[in-house]
Amino acid sequence: MKVNVEIRKLKRNEEPPMGLLLLADPSEILVKKYLQNGSCFVYLKDDEIVGEYLIMPKSESMIELMNVAVLERHQGLGIGKTLVMHAIIQARNFGYKTMEVGTADIGKIQISLYKKCGFVEKEVWYNFFKENYKQAIYENDLMCKDMIRLSIDL
Ligand code: COA
Repeated sequence: MKVNVEIRKLKRNEEPPMGLLLLADPSEILVKKYLQNGSCFVYLKDDEIVGEYLIMPKSESMIELMNVAVLERHQGLGIGKTLVMHAIIQARNFGYKTMEVGTADIGKIQISLYKKCGFVEKEVWYNFFKENYKQAIYENDLMCKDMIRLSIDL
């Protein structure tokens, strides 16, 4: 059976996919701030939102990719890579020169995803997660401490 797939910007009157957004960043306060200042794009499979990402301008030339997430039962099928490549094309079309993304130092899957899409490691923001989140964030029983920053020239 044919599956209908679409990636589009979240509509103004549409409810943001909070479950997905919080999968990538557990802070509801930060996610709401990002939604106000950035643009959310959603991946729909047969009209169901199964993935999303946010992009937020940081300067005239740099835009940040944030909160890439795919519903667990749809992971491992290439949707994450499709979303990141879509974000790169959007940013390029908007005229930005660089895109950056930040992820936990222990986020092996995330780092591998971004590198496969052409990002390279740029710097480390030491203790970012310890200093910016009230509660410790764990991934596979490991505590997120430092943020790895990656970038791509557009
Ligand atoms: N183990 C190791 N690497 C994996 C992996 C796994 N289980 N799943 C994906 N990857 C890596 C691989 O490099 C893969 O490339 P490959 O298929 O050529 O090997 C690449 O990621 C892309 O895989 P894809 O199927 O497109 O990713 P996905 O649709 O599963 O989405 C995430 C990846 C990170 C978005 C998804 O795991 C997710 O939503 N995680 C929770 C939210 C999150 O952490 N977001 C990132 C915030 S920085």
